[in-house]
Amino acid sequence: MNCHSPEAAVGSPSEFFDPEYRLARPGSTLRLIMRKPVIAGNWKMYKLLSEAVNTALALKPLVANANHCEVIIAPVFTELKTVADRLEGSNIKIAAQDCAAESAHGAHTGEVAADMLKDVGCRYVVVGHSERRQLYGETDQSVNRKVNSALAAGLTPIVCVGEMLEQREAGVVESVVKTQLSGGLAGLTRADVERIIIAYEPVWAIGTGKTATPQQAQEMHGVIRRAAAESHGEEVANSLRILYGGSVKPDNIATLMDQPDVDGALVGGASLEAETFAKIVNYK
Ligand code: 13P
Repeated sequence: MNCHSPEAAVGSPSEFFDPEYRLARPGSTLRLIMRKPVIAGNWKMYKLLSEAVNTALALKPLVANANHCEVIIAPVFTELKTVADRLEGSNIKIAAQDCAAESAHGAHTGEVAADMLKDVGCRYVVVGHSERRQLYGETDQSVNRKVNSALAAGLTPIVCVGEMLEQREAGVVESVVKTQLSGGLAGLTRADVERIIIAYEPVWAIGTGKTATPQQAQEMHGVIRRAAAESHGEEVANSLRILYGGSVKPDNIATLMDQPDVDGALVGGASLEAETFAKIVNYK
């Protein structure tokens, strides 16, 4: 079931009360909307093809019973097709780590169009990761174009936002993240936003071992959900899945997932090893 589609709210009673789905805004007078958690592993620029295949195949049986969440891995471009083929029929879905801003095929050396990613078995694409923003000149405008390209190709964009340490220390976290959101999601319709996933990844927590506290994560996820409610309506905001990323490990995933607005995790370092990532997937 695609839980961020409007149909998710009108499923059969057993589907509707499936305890594996998170209840959005308990007590809300709006119709109930469930958000299925997502645990995604971003492999960044790690692993040769054989290593990627071995990790994926090792992961497969370890997460085979994880029906409580969507399980996603994001290998590098050159490994997507092989890993997708080897995982066919499993519950592990494939994401790319980026896509071209342009939808139309053409003279864009080095770029990979969103429909090419779909074509080799991707279902998701990470867009606007802080490493791309910091190292490769990604802007809210290019993020916005990539989100549109991904949606047009039928991929689910996982749109990353998050502040740097100086911004947190300067007390401008909310405005930084709201600007990233309004820029990245500019012009999207409600139906578009129902199809995306947001990842809140504070830059100071990425690869540092310094996880945001569950309270810090909840606070920012709440900010993001309220911003989505203001821009696209409460119903869309209630169905929006917001993942936390930044030093997620087996020993901190459960407390993060306890937060009402944390709908999953985007995991870097701890996703590279099958056993460790499986522990995060199987957090409950
Ligand atoms: P770490 O889990 O290694 O901190 O990385 C987080 C991240 O950047 C996921 O996209």
